[in-house]
Amino acid sequence: MGGFFGDEGKGKIISYLTLKDNASAVVRGGVGPNAGHTVIWQGREFKFRMLPSAFMSPNTRLLIGPGVLVNPKILLDEIERTSTGDRVGVDYNCAVIEEKHIQIDRGSEYLKEKIETTGTGCGPCMADRVNRVAKTAREFDLLTPYLTDVPLEVNGLLDGGKVVLVEGTQGTFLSLFHGTYPFCTSKDVTASSMCADVGIGPTKVSDVLVVFKTYTTRVGGGPLEGELSPEETDRRGWSEFGAVTGRRRRASEFNFKLAKRAVMLNGATMAALTKLDVLFPESRECRDFDVLSNAAKGFVEKVEREIGVPVKIIGTGPSVEDVIDRRR
Ligand code: IMP
Ligand code: MG
Repeated sequence: MGGFFGDEGKGKIISYLTLKDNASAVVRGGVGPNAGHTVIWQGREFKFRMLPSAFMSPNTRLLIGPGVLVNPKILLDEIERTSTGDRVGVDYNCAVIEEKHIQIDRGSEYLKEKIETTGTGCGPCMADRVNRVAKTAREFDLLTPYLTDVPLEVNGLLDGGKVVLVEGTQGTFLSLFHGTYPFCTSKDVTASSMCADVGIGPTKVSDVLVVFKTYTTRVGGGPLEGELSPEETDRRGWSEFGAVTGRRRRASEFNFKLAKRAVMLNGATMAALTKLDVLFPESRECRDFDVLSNAAKGFVEKVEREIGVPVKIIGTGPSVEDVIDRRR
């Protein structure tokens, strides 16, 4: 799950866990192609807006849960770029984003100018879904080769003792229920909803991992406490640009208060902290907690104290392998 406003580095963490834990399936929950997850694997950069971030593991099923909105063009393009067609599964009941949804998202002053949505048609498609007039994946011939019953597949794997990862999108404070309404996305995006998105009951979940970045960023409108000027953001090396829209991300220091609340709202059992190397350059590509500088260790320990759950995974560089894993 994302602990702030999205873009915490979930894609990288999911990729790492897929390889390390030999996941049988990675299932994407969340809203839809408004989210972009970036994975740097063997020197190449991949951006995913539909597929789960796990293509590098050849035996892993790549599933999209029925709660997720699908843009068929973006999905097919990602399948082609990663040659993963034989292991992608899209649930029959995913609602499909059509051109009209994108036009409404981009044409509405309220959505485009005030909320500063991603313009990917997600909100308008979700509204159609709530009104029971959206079309579902089973009505699109292009998607036929991939259609499957995702909840049945996922629960079957779990019953067989296999590892399944659920990849959340967006971030806790973009939630329609728990976020900074009306500056938020079009549904809840906390762990409970992520389970519903993919058809897993809460009793089946063994761990909830919330991902934070060592600083806070936000794209689009809405409050950001302690927001830094673009110049100061640049000076700190925190300038980032959105994976979906290319917009400059607004930035502030790590927000301990929000992080603590995200742990509560998601029922987190552990946390991941990405981009430690941006705050502490000497930690770059480090894979062992013990050799971190005292300053870097101190920061991680402060986060743990404030949020009340252990930081088990730490990102120390852009690549999937640049991780400190403290789970064992
Ligand atoms: P929408 O989800 O496109 O309707 O956009 C609503 C708000 O959520 C805007 O502020 C977007 O920038 C933000 N948003 C939606 N998805 C993401 C994401 O995956 N990362 C970061 N911001 C997002
Ligand atoms: Mg993103």
